This record gives sequence, C-alpha cells and structure tokens, in this order.
Amino acid sequence: MSKFEVRKTAVIGAGNMGSGIAQKIATEGIPVILVDLDDEKVQRGLGIIRDLLQQGVERRLFRPEQVEAILGRIEGTSDWSRLSEVDLVVEAVFEDLEVKKQVFQRLGEHCRPDAILGTNTSSFYVRDVAAVTPHPERVVGLHYFYHPAKNRLVEVIGHEKTTDEAFQAAWAAQEAIGKTPIGSADAPGFVVNRYFVPWLTESVKLLETGVADIATIEWAAKKAFRIGMGPFELMNVTGVPIAMHAADTLGRELHSFYAPPETLRQQVASGELWNLDGEADSSKYEAVANHLLGTVFYVASQLVDEEVATVEDTDIGARVGLRWSLGPFQLINKVGTEKAQQMAQGVIESYGLPMPKLLAEAGPDGIPISLASLGQRGSLTSVWVDRPDAMNALNEEVVGQLVEVFSQARQQGRPIVLGGSGKAFIAGADIKFFVDNLRANTFPRIYQFTATGAKLLATLSGGDHAVVARAQGLALGGGAETALACDWIVASPKASFGFPETGIGIYPGLGGTQRLPRRVGLPIAKYLVYTGQILGAKQALEIGLCDQVVSFGELDGACERLASQGSAPERQAPSAPQAKAWQPVWDFFSTYSVDQILSGQADTQGNPVLEKAVKKMGSKSSVALRLAERLFNEGADLPLADALALELANLEEVFSSPDALEGLSSLIEGRRPAFVTT
Ligand SMILES: NC(=O)c1ccc[n+]([C@@H]2O[C@H](COP(=O)([O-])OP(=O)(O)OC[C@H]3O[C@@H](n4cnc5c(N)ncnc54)[C@H](O)[C@@H]3O)[C@@H](O)[C@H]2O)c1
Repeated sequence: MSKFEVRKTAVIGAGNMGSGIAQKIATEGIPVILVDLDDEKVQRGLGIIRDLLQQGVERRLFRPEQVEAILGRIEGTSDWSRLSEVDLVVEAVFEDLEVKKQVFQRLGEHCRPDAILGTNTSSFYVRDVAAVTPHPERVVGLHYFYHPAKNRLVEVIGHEKTTDEAFQAAWAAQEAIGKTPIGSADAPGFVVNRYFVPWLTESVKLLETGVADIATIEWAAKKAFRIGMGPFELMNVTGVPIAMHAADTLGRELHSFYAPPETLRQQVASGELWNLDGEADSSKYEAVANHLLGTVFYVASQLVDEEVATVEDTDIGARVGLRWSLGPFQLINKVGTEKAQQMAQGVIESYGLPMPKLLAEAGPDGIPISLASLGQRGSLTSVWVDRPDAMNALNEEVVGQLVEVFSQARQQGRPIVLGGSGKAFIAGADIKFFVDNLRANTFPRIYQFTATGAKLLATLSGGDHAVVARAQGLALGGGAETALACDWIVASPKASFGFPETGIGIYPGLGGTQRLPRRVGLPIAKYLVYTGQILGAKQALEIGLCDQVVSFGELDGACERLASQGSAPERQAPSAPQAKAWQPVWDFFSTYSVDQILSGQADTQGNPVLEKAVKKMGSKSSVALRLAERLFNEGADLPLADALALELANLEEVFSSPDALEGLSSLIEGRRPAFVTT
C-alpha cells in the first residue's frame, strides 16, 4: 500500500509515445514537464498534443476551455534542472539502450532520490536501464501502448531491485492518471507483446508454409478473436519492421520459436506493406484459427508458468491493450481444455517445446480466473473487484466470487477495505445479462442474481469489524449501492455516484431505495433515483452520501482511519438536508409525488435545478418511477431488513414491465429508450 501521491510528473522524449503520455497525464489533471533534446523537438511534441486535443474538440470530446486547461498543465522544456520538482518520471526516448542509459544517468543527477523513474522500453530489461542510476530500487518499467492517450493499458514492471513500495507507488500513479495497470516481471516482451508478437509471426508462418493466403488469414483471425484488424493489417499500421525487431528480441532471449520467419524479413527488406487484397477461403478457417489460438494458448500459459504475470493480468492485457473481447485464458475456457491443449500442441510440436504446466494440468473446468481477490492494504484486509476493463461491473461470476472472498476476509478478523481495479469503483451490473434473461423468459435468474447480491450486501455493515468502501472512481447503480451497504465510504475527488436505473426501465434493486434515504434523507434520495443525476465527490460529501473525500494518495490512509472507528451505527434517515443549498430539492421532493411532477402540477418556482430535474424525469420510465416511489414511501417506516425485503419482492413487477426490456436493451444498442407513456 502506498501513500505516494503524484503531484508533478515529467516525461522525457516528446515523440509519438512521450507526447501522448504527457497528454494523458495532463488530461487527468496532473502537471507534467515534457522534456526533449532541444526546443524545436519540444515544440514538435507540444504541437502533436495540440493537434490531437483540437481533434477532440471537433469530435466534442473536449470543450475548448478544457483543452486550454490541459495544455496549461504541460510545460515543455529542454532544461533538466526542472526535474528536481517531480514525483514521477516516464522516459520515452528512442529505443536505444545507450541513449536510455544516458537519460537515466541524468535523471539520477537531477531527480529527488525518492522520485519514481519509469522506462517505456519495449525490448530492453528494466534492470539494465536501472543499473546506471543511484537508486535502482525506485526504477520500474512503465510500458504503455499506442496511442497512450487513448489506450488504457500499462504494464508496470518491477525488476529484481525494485522495492514493493516503489512498485505500488508506480501502480497507484497509473491508476491516478486513469490507466489500467497490469503487473509484469522484467522479462522479454513483458506480458502482451510476449503473445501478441508470436500471433503476428505465426500468421506470417501460415502464409510462408502455404496454409492460407493473407486475405484468408486476416479474415480467420478477425473472426476467431472478434477483432477489427487482422495481423497483416496491424503490421501495416504499426510498422512491419517493428514486428520483426520485436520478434528478433524474443527469438534471441527466449527460443527460436519466437524468431521472425524469413518471409517477414524479406517483407521488411522490400520496404513494402503487406498486400491485403484477395478473397478469403472459408475452408481454411479451422486451420488458421486453431493455429493462432494455439499460439496464444501456448505463450500465455508459458508466461504464467514463468511467473511473468498472473492469469488475470494476462487476460486484462489482451482485452484492454489489444481490445480482444476475450483474453487468452477466457478463450481457453471457451474452447475447452482438451481442445485448447491440442491446439497448442499443434503449434509447439515441431519445435520440441514442452506443454506449459498450467495448460497441461488444467482440468475439464478450465483455468480458474479470479474476478475478486483477497489481499492486504496497510493494516486492512482488502477485497478487490478485478474487472477493470468492464469498470468492475457486477455479474453472476463477480458476485459469486465476492461472496466467497468476503467470507474469507471476515475470517481474518480485521477491518476490510472494498475497492475496484482501474478507473472505476464498481459501475453497475452487466446489462446484457438482464436483457438475455428477459428475452429468454428466465426472470428467476435475474432474481437469483439480485438476491445473492442483496444477501452479500447485507453482510457488509454492522459486523465486528468495519468495512470501508474505497471509491476512487465511478460508483454507479449497483456499485453505488454496494458502497452504501458498507459501514463507511471514502471517495477520491474523481469519484462520482449515481443511480441511473429509472432511465433504463427499472429501479435500483440492491438497496438504492432503502439505504440511500437512510443516508441522505428521503427527498434527496428520491431526487437522485428519479433523475439519475450523477454527483461528484464534493456534492456526495455535502449531502452525506459519502463520509470523506481525500486526494488519491490519501485514500488508503483515510480508509484505515475510518475503519479504526469500528462499524457504523445503523443509519437513521436525517430529517433535514445536511447542506442548506439542498433545501429547495428537499422541499420539492417532499411536497410533490411522481404523478404530480410528471403531469406538470409541481411548482419549481423557476429554480433551474428543479426545472432540470423535472425535465429529466420526463425521459425516465414512469412505471419504474412510480414503483421506486412506492418503495421509498412504504420502506421509509420499516426496519431496514424489512424494507430491503420489500425492495427485492417487487423486482419481478418492475422487470416484467415492457419498459424494463426496452430500457435495458436501448442501453446495449446505444439508443434512446422509447418507454410506454402512461
Ligand atoms: N511506438 C510505439 O508503439 C511504442 C509502444 C510502446 C513503447 N514504445 C517505446 O517508447 C519509446 C519511444 O518511442 P516513440 O515511438 O515515441 O519514439 P519517437 O522516435 O517518436 O520519440 C522519441 C523522442 O525522444 C527524443 N529523445 C531522444 N533522445 C533523447 C534524450 N537524450 N533526451 C530527451 N529526449 C530524447 C527524441 O527527440 C524524440 O522526440 C521507445 O522506447 C519505444 O520502444 C513505443
């Protein structure tokens, strides 16, 4: 656990990667010094950033004033003495070991001894770069993916001298800048390139050995991995020589299996891109798909055997970094252990490579993939949801594993901190699960899922030891309800809370209509659930939705302090708003019913917040609004347990309304819902 905080950063090298990394850091609100060899190169880097942000304005991702603020946080310079102020440096200069060593020597001279120094090297050992600094223990690899302002993945690489503290500080810094970190040992190709590069080279080998032509391999690869670009197109886009150099490194360091095939060398020598033209031959699908899947199955299992990364991080790397819909181990589990073993065998046979232990010993149920993990953070037991690429959304598997992990955590007899990996705390539930079950007429599965979640949430507060929700990011729907079920909620300034359910035809069914009013008061709870309004951390604190807001670096300390107060006493709904500014909202929602508001009988007295609220309610499902209102009113006077039972008991009613299917499917289909108006 780290109390490390990134207040100021630097990026060395203002090229393609460096400028993108600096842009991302500044976009997340952290000042960054961008260093290059001379002012011209610095200006070039700043120009790349400006252009990209301008495109963002045109695409309405940013407002012009946001762009100004982002640019205002980036200081371009060639003066290294400015580096004495920074907490974190990311080096992204040419991929040349001597150049990198020179840079790290200079960093050693200019940076504070406690600054974290990261290298974005793709092919060198981090230990070799670290060796030239006076503090190698504070050096890590920070391997970003192109384009680093857009691709969330970063591999955090510890070498043999990196301290746990430095590794964790580097990790926390990546989360603070909105990245999804995965851990890697200091090994060739780290995690993702270790299987991605062979995926490219094996595609070339399929061409070379006449198994299929380029058009067929492209088509089959896209279909098997459910991706938009096949291996040859990807090489064309990212540079054919880069693939060859990466394969050369892996081949040299690991095994000839990884080395580039002759056809790839010839292609690089020709200076041409691959010609993608032609018709795919569908009869070759199996041969191509099985070979590429087998390649990934072998390499991914092998790197886990070597303890380069965990199963979970290997999968997250593929989903976040490469945008595959499933990671290698999910794919293994999908095709089945026996078939996966056969596919891998087909790839490694001719090289005489042994089957990795992980894959060889996998049972018929496949390879276990953990989505919730037990650990320790300072003096607290930690329970973490590890689905960062899905914003830690709850599904049957996550909830099932959380039940398991929580009971283990309770057995440790210490306070518990509940958190999520990556940018979000927990952003709701998998909507597709609801839609699939509604379409299949299997509501009992939805009920079972919700009831299991409700049972888990009921155990989170009032125990012998406190449970603290560590909301570092988005807490939406079921996520906000999970936080509310804990004894305490600590939020970072980037956290936000919202209950969007009535906008998708349902009501918050994990305590949103019962625990929320007991925290913030019935009228404000109604406002939040009826409008779906998302609150930032400051507003959440103002109304009592969370207990503390602290900076990112202070989160863990604040969780420990709150946990030391023991579990929270049962909350009683306040009879007045905690902050005066909320009085109009309070008065409005205590005066008017849903029907009065929807039929235009409610007087907003020209208050813009209330006018907006009324307008928003007009786009929600009236069925869901009325049901939520009934639960709010009927539950308010009941003991909490009875009130929660009431909420659960009405689930079938809300899910059986046509608004539920319409609202939930509209979200998946990315369109506005058309609710039945009554
Ligand atoms: N391009 C990718 O897709 C990718 C992906 C992951 C990692 N990487 C790694 O990122 C690093 C940078 O790659 P890039 O594609 O941005 O390269 P680039 O050539 O676009 O940029 C390198 C920049 O570093 C500057 N530079 C060189 N020596 C310097 C020094 N001594 N001090 C300050 N600045 C110096 C150069 O002037 C240039 O602006 C490499 O290590 C590369 O392996 C690249």
